[in-house]
Amino acid sequence: MAGESPLSAPGPVLLLGAPGAGKGTQAKQLMAAWMIPQISTGDILRGNVARQTQLGMAAKSLMDRGDLVGDDLVNSMVADRLAQADCVRGYILDGYPRTLQQARWLDAHFQNKQAETIPLIAVNIRISYTSLMRRITGRRTCPVCQRIYNVHLQPPVQDGICDVDGATLTQRADDKEEVVAERMKAYDSLTAPVIDHYRAQGRFAEVDGEQPVEKVFADVVTQLRRLRGQAGAGGVR
Ligand code: AP5
Repeated sequence: MAGESPLSAPGPVLLLGAPGAGKGTQAKQLMAAWMIPQISTGDILRGNVARQTQLGMAAKSLMDRGDLVGDDLVNSMVADRLAQADCVRGYILDGYPRTLQQARWLDAHFQNKQAETIPLIAVNIRISYTSLMRRITGRRTCPVCQRIYNVHLQPPVQDGICDVDGATLTQRADDKEEVVAERMKAYDSLTAPVIDHYRAQGRFAEVDGEQPVEKVFADVVTQLRRLRGQAGAGGVR
């Protein structure tokens, strides 16, 4: 996809899926192809934890045990981010919304934005529990460029070292098997209904996340193109 833009006007896009489904991996590729921001609520929260902000200190213990951070905190964080200038041409929301309350807040946010005429479209990346456990426990991230690796599936050239900038790769605190089980419980009870919410709205597609990264990417782009073709400016915002 290098140098080629898969869609001319992407607008706002939601990437949905369980922990480890590949949302961050795909969002980074879409961001590079379109030059629009990836907005990962997990990354923003981890940044706040690292900087020991008030928000980070409120979120840390919840994240460490695999629980979700409160809706009001996350919604206001997203409101601030969506107001930034780089979101005008579109953005990829990764890891948000995570609850029905967050989804309803986002729907209302769109309805209140008279200037924003491009409807939201959503793609859910499906993956089995066995695969996500292998992906999450093998995940390593570059703390400098945020590139995502996997010791089993997408290893760096040199063990533990980022291919791009030579930084030492790190493992997320919440990627331990027992915390992943808690994250999955939160996903099943609170986030799965969000998928039904967007499915019912219609501008929604699913892709098979078990495939290689490049094939998942091709399928995501195909679905976004199809949805964008269906979703005219007169649709629900
Ligand atoms: P967050 O950071 O959002 O984590 P998550 O949703 O659990 O998702 P992950 O980042 O674990 O997975 P991913 O789908 O991005 O997969 P990735 O591409 O990295 O949230 C963390 C915490 O923050 C939450 O538990 C909560 O406490 C809090 N939080 C965040 N948002 C919130 C919200 N809205 N409300 C409340 N609380 C919130 O891939 C995983 C691995 O698989 C990588 O190693 C990758 O290399 C590999 N991989 C990816 N795709 C493939 C493929 N096709 N084939 C082989 N390997 C692959």
